[in-house]
Amino acid sequence: MTFENAKTLLEKYNQEHLLDFYDELNKTEQSDLLTQIENIDFSLLENLKPENTASAKKGKIEPLTKAVTISDIEQNIDKYRNIGIEEIRNGKVAAVLLAGGQGTRLGFDKPKGMFNIGVNRELYIFECLINNLMDVLKVAGVWIPLLIMTSEKNNEDTINFFKEKNYFGYNSDYISFFVQDMAPSVDFDGRIYLESKSRISLSPNGNGGWFSSIVRAGLLDKLKSDGVKWLNVFAVDNVLQRIADPAFIGAVINSGCQSGSKVVAKANPSERVGAMCLENGMPSIIEYYELTDEMANQRMDDGELAYRFGVTLNYLFMIDKLEDINKVKMPVHIVEKKIPYIDKNGCNVSPEKPNGYKFETLILDMIHMYDNCLPYEVIRNKEFAPVKNADGVDSVDTARELLKENGIEI
Ligand code: UTP
Repeated sequence: MTFENAKTLLEKYNQEHLLDFYDELNKTEQSDLLTQIENIDFSLLENLKPENTASAKKGKIEPLTKAVTISDIEQNIDKYRNIGIEEIRNGKVAAVLLAGGQGTRLGFDKPKGMFNIGVNRELYIFECLINNLMDVLKVAGVWIPLLIMTSEKNNEDTINFFKEKNYFGYNSDYISFFVQDMAPSVDFDGRIYLESKSRISLSPNGNGGWFSSIVRAGLLDKLKSDGVKWLNVFAVDNVLQRIADPAFIGAVINSGCQSGSKVVAKANPSERVGAMCLENGMPSIIEYYELTDEMANQRMDDGELAYRFGVTLNYLFMIDKLEDINKVKMPVHIVEKKIPYIDKNGCNVSPEKPNGYKFETLILDMIHMYDNCLPYEVIRNKEFAPVKNADGVDSVDTARELLKENGIEI
């Protein structure tokens, strides 16, 4: 793209400021900047219009009508486990770790999985997850393929860390890395930020692009030719989660559903987690900020909260259906974030509070694209220890306490 073409394009979208420092750049930086401009998906900016925001499009929300609860699971545990183990042994299950996020709330400048949650010994978040997956290996006797999503920002660090730690004992033949896409960040008026004089501010485009990124990386063909039918997709944060959990897999298969979601009873009605619900009669997830007070406190006839099942970001998806979903455009969410940038004088600014928006597609929207999804309730203190914040709720301290409570030496 030439300078003139870039200028015309940017004028159309009111983004000419991206060329403010062009004359100060050397030839390589100039051409690099023009390439970045050429690659911007300007259609994302359309999402800033109030009528286009993803939440504005939500349908009729109602409480769930069915879920597999802890007591149901206790009664059927052997049956579920056996079905799940069989499926794993037959090579039909792979796991996908979403680790492309930036973990801004934790405030750790490396990939979140590299955080040492140990106290008296080194115990990294990635290591906790691998250990949890190895527990299944011990029972099923086969390696489970593990796909790890990174972003351009943390791919190298993540891969090097796994190599340096010898994959924490996992068989590296079964681990693949793939990189997700990036999207531009904008200020509150929709003007794209510059990260430096020659670089546009880009950030990972949310965890909803995981499947399209798998396809783009050429990994889907491999999964299919290996006969994989189910993907257990999970977040990097939760150090206690069971991965490729045979009972969860078995319960979903037994129910005939095409997807499943591990849920926990919410700690309180206004806990900041998405809750499973029905939207226009189909499975869906409502974010905590979309629940009105009345809905958050609504009770069912049995006295339980109507929206009591919080999602843990641990889902099971049938691959066939994902291929259909991949043909549909995902809703884009606008998320307020702190975005470092350079101002019009060329000075670096590191904001202390949110100063703009990022555009993200979210995995939770995939649930609504399935015809059915089995909510599968797990015991909160045994399987839910998310490391989101530096302190307070869902923090390093709370996760450490829960690890200890579960007999894990830290
Ligand atoms: P979060 O919603 O906690 O986002 O991610 P985040 O970017 O990691 O953290 P904050 O909000 O800045 O503090 C939930 C899961 O989705 C992954 C994260 O790595 C985490 O496992 N994720 C998030 C991605 O893989 N890519 C993204 O673009 C965003």
